[in-house]
Amino acid sequence: MQIDDVRRVLIIGSGTMGLQIGLQCATHGYAVVLYDIDPAALESGLARLRGYADEQVRTDVIDGATRERALATITTTTDPTTAAAEVDLVSESVPEDPVVKGRVLAQFNALCPTRTIFTTNTSSLLPSMFAAATGRPDRFAALHFHLPVWSGNVVDVMPHPGTSPDTTALLLAFARRIGQIPIHLHKENYGYVFNAMYNAINTAAMTLVANGVASPEDVDRAWMGIFKMPIGPFGMLDDVGLDTAWHITNYWAGQTGDAQLRANADLLKTYVDRGCLGTKSGEGFYRHPTPAYAQPGFVEADSGA
Ligand SMILES: NC(=O)c1ccc[n+]([C@@H]2O[C@H](COP(=O)([O-])OP(=O)(O)OC[C@H]3O[C@@H](n4cnc5c(N)ncnc54)[C@H](O)[C@@H]3O)[C@@H](O)[C@H]2O)c1
Repeated sequence: MQIDDVRRVLIIGSGTMGLQIGLQCATHGYAVVLYDIDPAALESGLARLRGYADEQVRTDVIDGATRERALATITTTTDPTTAAAEVDLVSESVPEDPVVKGRVLAQFNALCPTRTIFTTNTSSLLPSMFAAATGRPDRFAALHFHLPVWSGNVVDVMPHPGTSPDTTALLLAFARRIGQIPIHLHKENYGYVFNAMYNAINTAAMTLVANGVASPEDVDRAWMGIFKMPIGPFGMLDDVGLDTAWHITNYWAGQTGDAQLRANADLLKTYVDRGCLGTKSGEGFYRHPTPAYAQPGFVEADSGA
């Protein structure tokens, strides 16, 4: 398959990431199918999708005509067979669990055309962990996006040892075609490039709060006050989704037996159990859509208790 043959993209798992990746493909001229096992996710997803598109128009990323065209090329389905029909490229964004990812990719291997290239958007796993399950390891690699996909427009292209050079070359070209800056990893690496740095910061931030050293707000104040950034680690965690952050931290706490990672996962779980998933649910470490860190004077305000 050549890059010009890629026309139709299937998103498997239409949550925070799948929606944004789907919209990015659609605004760059691709036909997009959003698939999810949960009909409610697709229903609420369409409203979120329109919100993302509106924000892109407001910030001059796209114009109104592109918005209309893109939204018109996106279809949704909960039927795997319909989703897989005539698809050229798959982007998988189901929850961060290697067993779930392997099962879903195997399911779609049986349904998609032979030519279809499969990619995973996993944050912290390696594509080789479920390459065999795809049934097409040579046409499979990680294509990993960052939030928000249209402005944090850097994508990791990470092959596993069985990925064919043609697949890697096609994905590097595809990334450019959808307005992303591709970072080509020459070997598998946990956390890719940016996340390898970001994960260390996140772990340090959560450790400070889980160990009772400082509040989330004060951790963010320190970060924002020194780097002059508009957001700190806990504001970013809200955008990531506290359920997604918990999945990742919990998985690695289990894999490594690290007591601090377990404490950090337990901290996130107290929020997840209350339905506080971050920006997507309206509350996490902050209340959205007007989080305290985005209000004037947040950094200069007195520390909380
Ligand atoms: N949130 C981030 O900042 C971010 C960034 C980069 C990568 N990722 C990765 O992207 C993936 C998805 O994360 P997210 O934050 O979008 O999660 P999310 O929870 O917002 O969305 C996941 C979606 O997958 C659906 N789903 C669950 N099981 C499914 C199945 N068997 N088949 C089809 N759909 C299924 C859920 O209904 C949900 O809509 C994870 O691997 C995560 O690590 C997340």
